[in-house]
Amino acid sequence: MPTTITFLGHATFEIETAGKRLLIDPFLENNPQAPVDSNSVQPDFILLTHGHFDHIADCIPIAKRTSAQVIANADICHWLGDQGVKDTHPMHIGGAHQFEFGTLKLTIAHHGSMLPDGSYGGNPAGLLFTLEDGVVYFAGDTALTYDMTLLADAGIDIAFLPIGDNFTMGPDDALRAVEFLQPKRVVPCHYNTWPVIAADADAWAGRVTSTTSAAATVLKPGESIRL
Ligand code: NI
Ligand code: MN
Repeated sequence: MPTTITFLGHATFEIETAGKRLLIDPFLENNPQAPVDSNSVQPDFILLTHGHFDHIADCIPIAKRTSAQVIANADICHWLGDQGVKDTHPMHIGGAHQFEFGTLKLTIAHHGSMLPDGSYGGNPAGLLFTLEDGVVYFAGDTALTYDMTLLADAGIDIAFLPIGDNFTMGPDDALRAVEFLQPKRVVPCHYNTWPVIAADADAWAGRVTSTTSAAATVLKPGESIRL
């Protein structure tokens, strides 16, 4: 079965690959875009790009209910341990590890990572997955960074990029990110959750198609894409 990636609104995604279910940046209960509630997800692994509430909000209850292993930077894993989350896998930027679902590397993201209680959340990251049927990149919350040119070597099949501006790249910089990353396909995220990050995703996808060699797919919350 091919890898399937489902958009759960904002920057929350579910990946089904190699018989495992991965949940990225769980933000469901107070996410006005979320198509499901936090009790209906059943992940084997939870992955966190950084410590902000709109990426970590439902992590602890889901981890405790499902016993999913949480993969994040070491600083967030340490904090999760203090909150009673027992099974974590700490990593740091630039490091890769082979998991049951495939290989994950944490990549550079330019952003913040403070945890909801004000604790230090380490450095924010992007997620670069090498799965059994392709390479998938989640930029996380980030500015445009020239380091993205290095990731083109990975041969990215699908890149998930924030386009909402204000907290992350906006549409213009996200378009330059597509040029740097050279993915086969790109999917926008982190927009329209609140008015301050409103963006026209269809217009942006049209610009991707007309000015780069990548294809673009806009997912509504609840919709899936196959690798
Ligand atoms: Ni953030
Ligand atoms: Mn965010």
